[in-house]
Amino acid sequence: MKQLIAANWKMNGSLPHLQAYVPALLAGLEESSGISARAVICPPSPYLPALAQMLKGSPVGVGAQNVHSSPKGAFTGEISVSMLADLGVGICIIGHSERRQLFGETDGMIRAKLEALLSAGLEAILCVGETLEEREAGRHESVVEGQVQAALAETGAEALTGLAVAYEPVWAIGTGKTATPEQANTMHGVIRTCLAGNLNAGAAANIPILYGGSVNTDNAGSLLSQSEINGALVGGASLEAPSFLAILKQAG
Ligand code: PGA
Repeated sequence: MKQLIAANWKMNGSLPHLQAYVPALLAGLEESSGISARAVICPPSPYLPALAQMLKGSPVGVGAQNVHSSPKGAFTGEISVSMLADLGVGICIIGHSERRQLFGETDGMIRAKLEALLSAGLEAILCVGETLEEREAGRHESVVEGQVQAALAETGAEALTGLAVAYEPVWAIGTGKTATPEQANTMHGVIRTCLAGNLNAGAAANIPILYGGSVNTDNAGSLLSQSEINGALVGGASLEAPSFLAILKQAG
C-alpha cells in the first residue's frame, strides 16, 4: 500500500512560517519526481484555511489535529467534523497521547470521534502507544491492543473505510528516543492482528499502520522499510520543509 506520511505540527508555527514552508515544500516535491508516498500536513487549526488554500491542486493533503464528536452545540473552543469538511480537510489525528494525557481524553471520547469522522466520510489517524513504565512492565502489547479495541468497540463493522492507526510509544515522542525498527515492526504486527480480530482480515490488511515518535531524516529510512510499517506520523522533524521533504523521499 502507498505509505502515508503525516506532519503533526502540534502547537507550533506562525503565518510567516506557513508562507515560507509551503512554497519550499512544493518546490522540493516538484524537483524530486521520486516521491510516491502520500503526504498530509496537520497544522494548528487556525492555519487550516490558509494551508488548504495554499495546497489546493498539489499532491499534499491537509489534516486536523483534533475534532469534537458532536455535530454542533455548546462546546466552547471545539471544532466539528462538518467544519473540517467545509475547509476541505479530509483527515484528522485522534487520540494523540498528548490529548489523552494533558487534556483528559478517554477511550470513549476517542471512539466517538472516530465514529463521527468515518461516518461523515473523513479519514482518521488513531494514535495508540504505551508509556515507558508499561513497556518496562511488559504490558506494552496489551495496553496498545486495549486502545485499539476500545476505539473499535461497538462499531460492529466488518470494515472501516478511512481508518489509519499510528503507533506512537509515549516514551519516544519528542524525546529523541525512537523505537528500534524491530520493536516498531513487532508492535505493528500486534496491531494488525488486533485489527483482524475486530474487522475482517481483508479490511485489516488494508489499514495503514504508521509509526510515530522521534522520526527524523536519519532514522526514517530504516523504520519505513519494515514490512509492517506503512508510514509515519512526524512531529518535530516536520516543522521545517527540508527535513519533512527528506523524510518523504525515504517513503515508498
Ligand atoms: P515527534 O512527535 O516526532 O516530535 O516525536 C511525534 C508525534 O507526537 O506525533
